[in-house]
Amino acid sequence: MPYTNLLVNNVDGILHIVINRPQSLNALNRETIQEIGKAIQEVYTNKDIKGAILTGAGEKAFVAGADISEFTALNQEDAKALSKAGHVIFDSIENCPKPIVACVNGFALGGGCELAMACHMRIASPNAKFGQPEVNLGIIPGYGGTQRLIQLIGKGRAFELLCTADMIDAERAEELGLVNYVEMQGDLINKASEIINKISKKAPLAIAKTVACVNAYFDNSKNGFEVEIDEFASCAATEDFKEGASAFLEKRRANFLGR
Ligand code: COA
Repeated sequence: MPYTNLLVNNVDGILHIVINRPQSLNALNRETIQEIGKAIQEVYTNKDIKGAILTGAGEKAFVAGADISEFTALNQEDAKALSKAGHVIFDSIENCPKPIVACVNGFALGGGCELAMACHMRIASPNAKFGQPEVNLGIIPGYGGTQRLIQLIGKGRAFELLCTADMIDAERAEELGLVNYVEMQGDLINKASEIINKISKKAPLAIAKTVACVNAYFDNSKNGFEVEIDEFASCAATEDFKEGASAFLEKRRANFLGR
């Protein structure tokens, strides 16, 4: 389908989703968020896609936040609907059974930091800057930022970033565990592709179940240990498990079919 605000390309089985609004530092307007949701659905449903990379157009910004120009007309009811709709889409990124990597190529502020945090992994270029500056505008993060920042860097550090609106650079983000790697801007996509390609060689159902178990840790309605027991057991019923174990014993490479 055609996208207005994104460039979406299947590059060797990896969906490259590029937020393409460089004139506003790739700020997320409502339409862009909906389009991200559609692109992520393609990752779920297209059997030829093994994972996705999310990045921003240009060399300056990943995403500089929600589009502030849409804020002036925002009332309480609209804000709730906007936040809920964003949560659904960001949750779909987090729960995607295939790996989604954010290549943070510059500013990742507000909704941009939240978008990066919803991805399974983050790789940043040295010019990347992370922050949740919402309190400067009299608002707070609305796409999961108050929760995912705590999950990734802990309560005290999250509290500081959320309440001071300070930006941190890529090196500090790596120290805090907010990013997995720092790579030169021109190497971001290669590094992300390398990780996705490595994961794609593993049993796809085992990867999907791993995503479910990891996310269960943060879901108060679930007991992650119980989820692990169930997912471990359901792996035993897959053809891939039989293939993986047989291949090891027969000293050959496994041919996983995702069944
Ligand atoms: N929403 C809408 N437009 C935005 C934007 C946003 N979140 N962030 C940047 N832009 C626009 C600017 O208005 C500017 O547009 P203009 O050229 O028409 O004036 C353009 O993008 C370039 O931004 P500019 O501020 O000139 O770049 P800079 O290098 O001086 O500063 C930032 C970069 C990221 C520090 C600054 O743009 C900024 O603070 N943006 C807002 C970040 C934010 O608060 N995000 C959270 C929103 S909840």
